[in-house]
Amino acid sequence: MPALTHNICPLFLFLSFTLLSFGFCSPYARPTEVPASKNASSYQTIQHSNHSNASESIHGRGNSDRHCQPFYTTFSDPSTVADSNSDPSNTPFVALSPPETYAITSNGLEMYLQRPKGEVHSANGMNDNLGEAATINSTFWMDSGKVTYEASCDYVPGVVCAFILIDAVQVSDGELHLDEIDVELVGSGSARWQTNIFKPSKADPEPHYGQFDTKEQYPQNPSYTSFHKYSISWDSEKIVWGVDGQDARTIRKEDTYINGVPHFPGESDSLRLQLGIWDGSGAEGTSTWAGGPVNWDTAPQKIVATVRSVSVEC
Ligand SMILES: *[C@@H]1O[C@H](CO)[C@@H](O)[C@H](O)[C@H]1NC(C)=O
Ligand SMILES: *[C@@H]1O[C@H](CO)[C@@H](O)[C@H](O)[C@H]1NC(C)=O
Ligand SMILES: *[C@@H]1O[C@H](CO)[C@@H](O)[C@H](O)[C@H]1NC(C)=O
Ligand SMILES: *[C@@H]1O[C@H](CO)[C@@H](O)[C@H](O)[C@H]1NC(C)=O
Repeated sequence: MPALTHNICPLFLFLSFTLLSFGFCSPYARPTEVPASKNASSYQTIQHSNHSNASESIHGRGNSDRHCQPFYTTFSDPSTVADSNSDPSNTPFVALSPPETYAITSNGLEMYLQRPKGEVHSANGMNDNLGEAATINSTFWMDSGKVTYEASCDYVPGVVCAFILIDAVQVSDGELHLDEIDVELVGSGSARWQTNIFKPSKADPEPHYGQFDTKEQYPQNPSYTSFHKYSISWDSEKIVWGVDGQDARTIRKEDTYINGVPHFPGESDSLRLQLGIWDGSGAEGTSTWAGGPVNWDTAPQKIVATVRSVSVEC
């Protein structure tokens, strides 16, 4: 994807502007420990008892708590998502963003991007003020399997809805381990949906942003403003994305070599699910990719991504 050639870092863009106030694209501090050792299937029945409390070892497949466990939710129960101030140890999801950025409604989980408070100035293809928006993690992990996000996203140039698998940890020597497998609904056009992977290597002179992204078609209802089922199946050899039950893209580990170095995510790491909507107007390359910057004179005051269901098959 040619627009994303330099200095683009959607995940960190989001994190740095709305959550952690670190510099653009800089590695952020070791994440707050979150009880991670969840048996996803047990959420179906056990909502109110304590689960085990294994500490977060550095990600890896060795930990039995990080195996794939079947899971399904339609977000009918408000306790499916713990807010950022409460204990997430008995919930499958935890919000990273404030409670006003999302709601559990009869449509499912609604995630919002709100108009920024105060004035917004646009220059050089960017806005100087970004809207606050929702990011929600799973508290459970997968080391392989298939996740399906049934979701819709408002179409607004500059806005991105993201349904991804991720692990991001800064280890003691300061090195950042990042693994990402993405489905993104991007404000440059609602007739396609995008796939991407990201796994920087220490050997890279520069991170390869946008090296592996593609735009995919819909078999029917060609707009991401209607609900579609986006799936990611993955194991240590390949990743298959699908939409509405049809395979769309396969990438194998051997397809990810750049200068002899593999960039294949999730091979040795367990990943979390992450759902979000974000304002892509904060950096020029990102904003161009996202069709932005957002024009708040014409955009709705509240832009919505809706997740009707999430399933994990193993
Ligand atoms: C997870 O829960 C399922 C269903 O309750 C159970 O069969 C399975 O043994 C559990 N796995 C672990 C690792 O606790
Ligand atoms: C659950 O854990 C909390 C501390 O995290 C503890 O105070 C509480 O007693 C525990 N409840 C049960 C039922 O074990
Ligand atoms: C969870 O583990 C931490 C770190 O070992 C410990 O301090 C805490 O008391 C534990 N909580 C429970 C409920 O076991
Ligand atoms: C959410 O997931 C990201 C990516 O692994 C991680 O860096 C962050 O600490 C997680 N936050 C919570 C609250 O789970």
